[in-house]
Amino acid sequence: MIGPGGREHAIVRALLRDPYVEQVHAAPGNAGIAADVFVHPVDASNPEAVTALARELAVDLVIVGPEAPLAAGVADVLRDAGIAVFGPSQAAAQLEASKAFAKQVMAAANVPTAMARVATARAEAEEALDTFGAPYVVKDDGLAAGKGVVVTEDRDVALAHADECFAAGGTVVIEEYLDGPEVSLFVLSDGRNVLPLAPAQDFKRIGNDDAGPNTGGMGAYSPLPWAPAGLVDEVVCRVAQPTIDEMASRGTPFVGVLYCGLAMTSRGMRVIEFNARFGDPETQAVLARLRTPLGGLLMAAATGELDEDEQLHWTPRTAVAVVVASENYPDKPRTGDRISGLDEASALEDVQVLHAGTAHDDDGQVVSAGGRVLAVVALGDGLDQARELAYKGVDLIGLRGSQHRTDIALKASRGLVTVAGASAQSVAQEAPELVDPAIEGTVL
Ligand code: AMP
Ligand code: GLY
Repeated sequence: MIGPGGREHAIVRALLRDPYVEQVHAAPGNAGIAADVFVHPVDASNPEAVTALARELAVDLVIVGPEAPLAAGVADVLRDAGIAVFGPSQAAAQLEASKAFAKQVMAAANVPTAMARVATARAEAEEALDTFGAPYVVKDDGLAAGKGVVVTEDRDVALAHADECFAAGGTVVIEEYLDGPEVSLFVLSDGRNVLPLAPAQDFKRIGNDDAGPNTGGMGAYSPLPWAPAGLVDEVVCRVAQPTIDEMASRGTPFVGVLYCGLAMTSRGMRVIEFNARFGDPETQAVLARLRTPLGGLLMAAATGELDEDEQLHWTPRTAVAVVVASENYPDKPRTGDRISGLDEASALEDVQVLHAGTAHDDDGQVVSAGGRVLAVVALGDGLDQARELAYKGVDLIGLRGSQHRTDIALKASRGLVTVAGASAQSVAQEAPELVDPAIEGTVL
């Protein structure tokens, strides 16, 4: 398991529940992963170092967690060495690493997404902003750990973000604003076949009620009681399969997990973004419910043998994950503080504490080592119970200056998340072959 975060800890835990998995090794891992499996101090984004470790350990499968190693070509070097790997090639990972590339693929595959324009200079940016109007959406083209997107009513703020990207030598994607609740759906693929997991919702902003700047994600829950019937099939038919087919026809098949970030707008479902990996912290919630052994699924995807007809097993219970972040995250997170209450929170029934940015200090104590420090994940009978339990766990954790949202899954638990305009049925019945006006307008 390659990567240092909470998503990787969730995957490690799922692998440990798989009766066919003999042994799990992680690189570099974190303090929580080190408590569960063997860890190795290897730079996750160094393809040669990762491949050497995989060879030395004679592993059957390498799973790459984060986007940076994928964009650095770690999967390519492993595959060239004859090692099975779950994670896309550098070329296929462009679906996440370049938002402009993702837009081109979506246009070619008729995937519904926001109208967008690429700008490389101020005049182009101004024209695009004025074409779409407020609220303005300005995205750094490249990887930015979830922090490259500015959504604002203020044209000057939008332009300032574009200028910052230009000054750093980058391009920006400017697009129409998509309203409506967001859904994250992970779709496994072996390059040809697709198999969707259960949908989740993520909370991107740092503060309650979606206030403040975007983060990597402050919490998640699954399943979504408000999701339109047929949502998953709809995403597979209109988004995932066409995208996987398009990538294959370009000679760059996508092997791994296609993270479909969607907005359920009043005009139907639209793709907000693709990622080339599992989402964090959605994975912490989704895998807590998965009962089908994960190792076998990822192995099948890595070796071209994914069974599209496989019926995945899920507990009907609800998972809620609440992220505890360090002081000053997402700006300049304060690190190196001791964390208390980890054992007490983990001891609660149906609660897991999954580590993200944690490390050991010289005395062997667990300390904060990143922006998002950990996630408390609870399983309950329904959202209320899962929320209550997750927050019970969070309250037991002690970390100086730490921050967490207190409204993860709150609106959903009160029945306040709705898909505007479209009833569940009308979304499900929208014919896939109908050309969406938003696609016709895509300027790329
Ligand atoms: P991205 O990095 O593209 O996922 O964007 C991060 C977050 O910004 C998304 O999860 C949304 O909350 C928001 N966002 C991105 N694009 C749009 C859009 N076109 N309209 C509204 N919100 C957006
Ligand atoms: N939770 C959002 C992401 O993983 O990008």
